[in-house]
Amino acid sequence: MLEIGGGTGTWTPLLAKRATRVVFVEPSRKMLNIARKKNRDFTNVEYVQSTLEEFVCPVKADTLVVLGDVLSYVTDAEKAMKKLWSLSKRGAILIGSVDGYYRGVREVITVGAFDVLRTLERFKRLQVGNPKLTSESMLTRMYTPSELENLLESNGFSCQTLAGVDVFGPYEDRFLSRHMEEIVSVELRYSMDRQVLGVAEHLFFLARRRW
Ligand SMILES: C[S@@+](CC[C@H](N)C(=O)[O-])C[C@H]1O[C@@H](n2cnc3c(N)ncnc32)[C@H](O)[C@@H]1O
Repeated sequence: MLEIGGGTGTWTPLLAKRATRVVFVEPSRKMLNIARKKNRDFTNVEYVQSTLEEFVCPVKADTLVVLGDVLSYVTDAEKAMKKLWSLSKRGAILIGSVDGYYRGVREVITVGAFDVLRTLERFKRLQVGNPKLTSESMLTRMYTPSELENLLESNGFSCQTLAGVDVFGPYEDRFLSRHMEEIVSVELRYSMDRQVLGVAEHLFFLARRRW
């Protein structure tokens, strides 16, 4: 299994418990070290400091994970998809998430940032993080459900499941913790409803390599 853009290794325990071998790929040395330390009990995880684009692997993976919106952060998603294809076996599973476009539109218009909206509509990208600290802010590519499906389908993967996470939010923190169970239950009921999942903050997907 390949975990690409693994960050500080939040998903790693879940993956390491299910896979025989996990190769954890992350460009940031700092994040990689945190992940390694946090998950030191898992002996089946290997750590590689690299971007997806530069990563070289002698064996093909049967599961590839790009959770945490990695396909929103790469500079060229088409190129990244081709790389994922080349790192995978035929029939391999690709699991990931991206930032949702319509949530971006909602966030921008509710604060009256109409100039930002024009840029978002044109480039499908939005600056996230702290805008005053350029090193801590980055551009995220936001996807509509159809754009995400097209990206997967046109690069040899068939999209099998699409689910919105945080469909009806954003929720205020205290409200969320008070009603966590009810909210999770409603979110789960509608997360795969095609008519509403497009406005979710994140779009999660499961795809399978076709050929
Ligand atoms: C929001 S974090 C998600 C981290 C982790 N996957 C998670 O879900 O907790 C996005 C990650 O993508 C990584 N990333 C950005 N560009 C990348 C690239 N070109 N190749 C691989 N990883 C990349 C970042 O370093 C960061 O760790």
